[in-house]
Amino acid sequence: MNFCFPSFHVPLTSITVVDFILRLINAVKYHLYTAILFTWTDYKTVFFPITVFACATAPARSCSSLLWCCVWVWFHQLMCNVSNQVCGRKEDKINHPWRPFPSGRVSESQALVIRWATVACCISLSSMYEPELIHTTLGLVIVTLAHDELGGGNNVVGKSLCSAAAYVCFEFGATTIIGVMDFVSVTAVIISGILAFTAVHAQDFPDVEGDKTTGRMTFPIYAPELSRFFTLFVTIAWSVFLSWFWEVGPISTTLFASFGIYVGLRYYFWRTSEADRRSYLTFNVWLMAAHVLPLHARTSVLAF
Ligand SMILES: *[C@@H]1O[C@H](CO)[C@@H](O)[C@H](O)[C@H]1NC(C)=O
Repeated sequence: MNFCFPSFHVPLTSITVVDFILRLINAVKYHLYTAILFTWTDYKTVFFPITVFACATAPARSCSSLLWCCVWVWFHQLMCNVSNQVCGRKEDKINHPWRPFPSGRVSESQALVIRWATVACCISLSSMYEPELIHTTLGLVIVTLAHDELGGGNNVVGKSLCSAAAYVCFEFGATTIIGVMDFVSVTAVIISGILAFTAVHAQDFPDVEGDKTTGRMTFPIYAPELSRFFTLFVTIAWSVFLSWFWEVGPISTTLFASFGIYVGLRYYFWRTSEADRRSYLTFNVWLMAAHVLPLHARTSVLAF
């Protein structure tokens, strides 16, 4: 027996190992892709703006703190997005059918497991970096609970409040990881929270059709005309205020304010859902610029 099996046995084992590794790689690829699908819409609204904000507000101490910041923001965005999408499956069937839940990539029974697994992931991540950060994570968990499970996101004011609170948590966490929370950082975070409160509805314009079908009340649905006008007002007012507050130079002010006016006018005059999708993209570029202004308080780079 011993005599004839070895030659047969050895290749069999190595095939099993190779096969196992290939399956493992495929599984990792599959789940990574799922995670990217969950977070896809919000790289422009969360991941990049928050990271850029943190770097501009509390210039990075080291490459490793920047890396930590990116990982931390990404996992927390994933947590918020999973929670949001577990509760928003109906709207997503219409607005975003390719997302993991509506497309059937992730089943109903897996949804809750993933929802709480991402929470556990974020808590461990924060505790690994600095136990204090756990408070920020818990803050975000509470905000997502209020927004999604408790239905705070279903009315106009609740949604804006939750989003603003979420931004504050994200920025607080990211800035703490990157550098220090001194007067400039704290001021920048507070201002950005108020800005988020007044402007988050910009994201609801492209989704009006889907939200109407599911009965989700957003500012653009509640007040179609006023919400357009308000967006115009808000982008202009914030452009002027932020340039003044951070004391950037005349050319920077002109550039930033013109861009804000352009974004506001786009929203006001171009009202198809395709135009709204593009307006939202330009809005995010403007928002990113708004988040870079605190850099001036550190380095005077925008004095021209
Ligand atoms: C993703 O998470 C961010 C941060 O809380 C939130 O603003 C955004 O609406 C979420 N998007 C989706 C599609 O879940």
